[in-house]
Amino acid sequence: MSWLKQITNSSVGAKSIVALTGLAMVGFVVGHLSGNLLVFGGPDAINGYAAWLRSKGGLLWGARLGLIAITGLHIYFTIRLNLLNKQARPIAYAKKSYTKASFASRTMVLSGLLSLSYILFHLAHFTFRVTSPEIAALGHTDVYQMLILSFNSPLVAGTYIAAMVLLGLHLNHGLSSLFQTLGLNHSKYNPMIRSIGPVLGSLLAAGFMSIPVSIMLGILK
Ligand code: HEM
Repeated sequence: MSWLKQITNSSVGAKSIVALTGLAMVGFVVGHLSGNLLVFGGPDAINGYAAWLRSKGGLLWGARLGLIAITGLHIYFTIRLNLLNKQARPIAYAKKSYTKASFASRTMVLSGLLSLSYILFHLAHFTFRVTSPEIAALGHTDVYQMLILSFNSPLVAGTYIAAMVLLGLHLNHGLSSLFQTLGLNHSKYNPMIRSIGPVLGSLLAAGFMSIPVSIMLGILK
């Protein structure tokens, strides 16, 4: 298993794993958003989709376990990368220069940790349904009603919207950075690569936000 040791002990290896697991998580987020947007097609569209997902039993559990493993690896290798970078430079710079680093890149750990706490809340809310008795009473078949009931509360809708701002911020830097780590680097295309994060990150955040916002405005009811 020397290759595994090599990956774990080199910052290039750790960075590549952070990038690959990040890409896989973005794949999940894109798929999840596409499914969620079916809410605009009405109760039958989203409830039918949720029933179809649940009918996949083993496959769904495989995807869930894969997602947990990928998220764990993403966090583990981010910590590992930070430690390796600290080892390479045991004495921190006397003065940090932020001239080139964007706000999004400087706050990756914070936006990542806050996004993780949002996901834990989100699972308790929509998957385990333990946050309110009304949602627990709906059962697992009426996802449409669950969304309406949840986002009619300004506190819940506000929490989701704030979480989407954080996720957008995390993806803003993460997406551009991961493509560069994976070798997408060409002087002609670098401005385009740098804009992948801000553009795609904002589109994904706006897509998710459209659901609580439309429910609060009474567009979906
Ligand atoms: C407005 C935004 C969102 C809405 C309305 C939403 C909606 C939902 C719903 C309805 C479920 C439960 C499906 C069911 O059990 O029938 C779910 C599960 C889940 N969501 Fe979201 N979601 C949103 C944003 C996100 C984001 C941004 C992420 C990750 C970054 C995420 C990650 C998950 C995960 C990991 C699950 C569990 C999937 C499973 O049960 O296997 N969600 N979401």
